[in-house]
Amino acid sequence: MPPSLRLGVNIDHVATIRNARGGRHPDPVRAAKLAIASGADGITAHLREDRRHIRDDDIARLKAEIDKPLNLEMAATDEMLGIAVRTKPHASCIVPEKRTERTTEGGLDAAGQIVHLSPFVARLNDSGIRVSLFIAAEPCQIEAAAKLKAPVIEIHTGAWCDALMERREADAHAEWRRICDGVAMARDLGLEVHAGHGLDYASAETIATLGSVRELNIGHFLVGEAVFEGLPATIALMREAMARGRSRAARP
Ligand code: PXP
Repeated sequence: MPPSLRLGVNIDHVATIRNARGGRHPDPVRAAKLAIASGADGITAHLREDRRHIRDDDIARLKAEIDKPLNLEMAATDEMLGIAVRTKPHASCIVPEKRTERTTEGGLDAAGQIVHLSPFVARLNDSGIRVSLFIAAEPCQIEAAAKLKAPVIEIHTGAWCDALMERREADAHAEWRRICDGVAMARDLGLEVHAGHGLDYASAETIATLGSVRELNIGHFLVGEAVFEGLPATIALMREAMARGRSRAARP
């Protein structure tokens, strides 16, 4: 039996809608509670430097009010490290961040930033916060994560999902191979593997077939689909897709 696959629901885009009008509605913490009641195993939120969606008090309220693990996505900056150490989320996922990008566009260059990242990973580890690095499924990045002693990597699935959506079959196939090889390599190095970015029902079902992937973090598709189906139904359908994929997983 492959290990279970957790679903982390990213509620950033509930905050995006709230911020479009100012005020408090819709409240991302309410969405987080509803997501948990509907089957999410945890909540993910990205506190960006420019606070374009999630804000500091959202993080404080999430930590105080939800009863499942909180995964704080953050850039490797002193400000974010201070917030993480004070807030003590269950996990912190270190992501690259540029002010101008619409979302997290590429993986973290862990291999090129070993010296910069090392104290961040060490401090988070020492604070009892489970660290993950959001990286492309490239051997040099996976090796760097192991060298940095990050216990977890989150594989950036964006390029694969884009290729699937745009029906670029050869690219999708090549990206999928890269993900499969990366997952196997990370597993062999003793890293826990998560995945996220751009996932929908079909791609989540496919990636669930990789038994070593332990957690998916999904936001944009779930929040978008909730407009039509409601968040509980959307999460239930996502869990079904993940369970279908998992039932076909060959080995851990
Ligand atoms: N994982 C990480 C590290 C991310 O930065 C994001 C996007 O914020 C996600 C998962 C979720 O991606 P999406 O919103 O495309 O599902």
